[in-house]
Amino acid sequence: MEEVYRAIRESDRFIISSPIFFFSLTAQIKALIDRCQAFWCEKYLLKKPVPEGPHGRKGLLMMVGGMKKEIGFQCGDATATAFFRTINVPAHETIHYASVDAQGAVSEHPTALKDAYEAGKKLVS
Ligand SMILES: Cc1cc2nc3c(=O)[nH]c(=O)nc-3n(C[C@H](O)[C@H](O)[C@H](O)COP(=O)(O)O)c2cc1C
Repeated sequence: MEEVYRAIRESDRFIISSPIFFFSLTAQIKALIDRCQAFWCEKYLLKKPVPEGPHGRKGLLMMVGGMKKEIGFQCGDATATAFFRTINVPAHETIHYASVDAQGAVSEHPTALKDAYEAGKKLVS
């Protein structure tokens, strides 16, 4: 985690990309997020948030889910919001696509790839 903590401190643009598994983000990204409780303590107990830096800090959350239901995206966004605010990212955009299940299905979506490109451009602008 030392390497990840350093990257989180030094970076100013963050992208979380995850499929929805059991109505939330994957266990792998969740494990990383959980280890960021250290940042929560720094920000909320020690009152020392990660410095914003000259370009501010911004995030992007990208999710796909195989089902039509929105609940998984809502849960994923709630977790990502808590994470982003903890690492002192005050705002993030979210894009998500339902009914994306089969291998390669997202590349057949009419707008997903263009949306992701535009969201990436906006993130770094
Ligand atoms: C263990 C598991 C749990 C899943 N749970 C959900 C779910 O709760 N909601 C949903 O919309 N899709 C669910 N899916 C479908 C995946 O989100 C979907 O297949 C996605 O495209 C998988 O992306 P990947 O191929 O990058 O893993 C689940 C798939 C797996 C394997």
